Amino acid sequence: MTAKIAVVTGGSRGLGRNMAMRLAEKGIDTVITYNTKKDEAKSVLFEIESQGRKAAALHLDVSDLRSFDKFSAELTQTLKDNFGTDKFDFLVNNAGMGATIPFASATEDDFDRLLNVHFKGVYFLTQKMLAVMNDGGSIINISTGTTRFCNPGYSIYASMKGAIEIFTKYLAKELGPRKIAANVVAPGATETDFNNAVIRSNPEIKSRIAQNTALGRVGQAEDIGGIIAFLCTEDGRWINGQRIEATGGVWL
Ligand SMILES: NC(=O)c1ccc[n+]([C@@H]2O[C@H](COP(=O)([O-])OP(=O)(O)OC[C@H]3O[C@@H](n4cnc5c(N)ncnc54)[C@H](OP(=O)(O)O)[C@@H]3O)[C@@H](O)[C@H]2O)c1
Repeated sequence: MTAKIAVVTGGSRGLGRNMAMRLAEKGIDTVITYNTKKDEAKSVLFEIESQGRKAAALHLDVSDLRSFDKFSAELTQTLKDNFGTDKFDFLVNNAGMGATIPFASATEDDFDRLLNVHFKGVYFLTQKMLAVMNDGGSIINISTGTTRFCNPGYSIYASMKGAIEIFTKYLAKELGPRKIAANVVAPGATETDFNNAVIRSNPEIKSRIAQNTALGRVGQAEDIGGIIAFLCTEDGRWINGQRIEATGGVWL
């Protein structure tokens, strides 16, 4: 049987990297994308290939909508050259960055930067990818716990992620005839490079979040990748149009 293929945006580091590794464990091949960290992306490929799975890495800036036609053509060529097919099965819209910007001082530039990466880019990249996706696969959009609770300074970021959550329900409805499922996974504070590695580099914030998390700690990338991998298996096939929060039970 030919392996299923996932495209994971922002697979060079953090959550996306772990997603690609866990997908490989489930026997799913992966095309990861990177924006600035080509060498890190290469090391992810090396690790996936050492697990006996196929992998490729392509450059993508999700805020650059005009590059999507080129990306789509490169992806199609890569699928042919590296995987012997012209379609993939699972799209994981994971790429993103954080910014702590108090509402009172937020600028239109701040707004547009986060809009383009977290909502507009995801919306139109997903639209572009429909032509390259097999029927019967799924789309997973990465949101955040901060659409349920408030973290001061996240008004723009969390609003864009909230938009992604609504968008995901529309995807599930409109892509149902193609048997493509769409779900959201919403991580809580996770110790990655995200938002200038705020969790890793600030013991006070890390401890406050851990104290307010039922399971008593902040998240690690390893807490998230397996959820994405599960959603891409047969066992996850009946989950559709859902927001799955993975925060260890923060601010319950
Ligand atoms: N960590 C958390 O606490 C947390 C919590 C909730 C949700 N999230 C969400 O989880 C996702 C991944 O975050 P993370 O923690 O893994 O962050 P990370 O460690 O900083 O990694 C970010 C990834 O996104 C890529 N990326 C950033 N800007 C991009 C752009 N404009 N175009 C394309 N790729 C871009 C990066 O690529 P390069 O490395 O190649 O530049 C990198 O692979 C994000 O959507 C984030 O909002 C994170």
